[in-house]
Amino acid sequence: MKEEGIERLVRPHLRSFQAYEPVDPPEVLAARAGIPPERVIKLDGNENPYGPSPRVLEALARLTGYNIYPDPFQRRVRQALATYAGVSPDQVIAGAGSDELIDLLLRLFLEPGDQVVDLSPTFGMYAFSTRVNGGQVVTVERDAAWEVDPVAVRRALTPRTKVVFVANPNNPTGNVTPQSVIEGLLEMGLVVVVDETYHEFSSFTVVPLLTKHENLVVLRTLSKWAGLAGLRIGYGIMAPQLAKLMMGVKAPYNINVAAEQAVLATLEDRDLLLRRVKAIVEERERLAAMLRRIPGLTVYSSRGNFLLVRLPQGKARQAQAGLAERGIFVRYFDAPRVADCLRISVGLPQHTEVVVKALAEIVKVS
Ligand SMILES: Cc1ncc(COP(=O)(O)O)c(C=O)c1O
Repeated sequence: MKEEGIERLVRPHLRSFQAYEPVDPPEVLAARAGIPPERVIKLDGNENPYGPSPRVLEALARLTGYNIYPDPFQRRVRQALATYAGVSPDQVIAGAGSDELIDLLLRLFLEPGDQVVDLSPTFGMYAFSTRVNGGQVVTVERDAAWEVDPVAVRRALTPRTKVVFVANPNNPTGNVTPQSVIEGLLEMGLVVVVDETYHEFSSFTVVPLLTKHENLVVLRTLSKWAGLAGLRIGYGIMAPQLAKLMMGVKAPYNINVAAEQAVLATLEDRDLLLRRVKAIVEERERLAAMLRRIPGLTVYSSRGNFLLVRLPQGKARQAQAGLAERGIFVRYFDAPRVADCLRISVGLPQHTEVVVKALAEIVKVS
């Protein structure tokens, strides 16, 4: 579009914006691979292969009242999530996925030009939402073992640095940043957002630190352990005064009535869902062991529901395409430090067999 077109009215930093690269739904993947959707093995989105709790399906089948707006104060949802997380409801805010909460936090904290520390390689939405909100991304590389280097973070700080995001476990690398390092970041006086999207798989949390640190925010989601990625429901845990500010800037009806019911039904069926989490963790270790037997592959140990796998130099993109031709979809990132890697979500046991066999064939001939 020409400068004199509608573009001239768009905020300058958004005129030639680089979109986030999302994962496609199964029917699109199937059409691309020329196979029926039921043959798609979808290991690219860290989704839950077991789906949601059967109680969610029952609750949604019974649900009426689609013509009425949901509760803008999320009363029942906040209460249920707070009980689950062991905090008080005024510390909780629910969002349409943790993605929405990342955006809301940045809306709240960033003036144009303010800086956000991105502990690279990490989840792409932190940098994306920072840029959308007119902030500047300051990249601090993780070390060779993907650990966060607090000295490097401190060196990167300027008077304009406001927020640091720590995905814990980190996506795509799978490792956990220890509590001592997070405490070090909290001492720096920034807003420290610890993204515990994969909490149930890692059994690690910094929620107890909330009593001492008003600059700590913990993000969680029901997308992964509870199999609700499609309903978009995540939550943040933080100091009550911050939760109140967040509630004040969100869209009033951000949690739809189906998601509301799904949260309540999920939390009533947590034992079943946590047994599935355990099965996924065991499957992750089985997948890792099988992949490690393929010559040329390095498998990083992971506390999430996915594995980062390093291939021989220059082979990863080609391997992703080779897997896709066989109906197996995994994630490839072209960021330099992971350009030779694939991220493979843990699926059902039969998916493990198929992906290992295919990858072994691909790596052998390439
Ligand atoms: C680290 C991390 N944070 C947040 C999200 C987004 O989760 P949600 O589905 O709750 O928006 C993801 C999704 O993959 C993730 O890996």
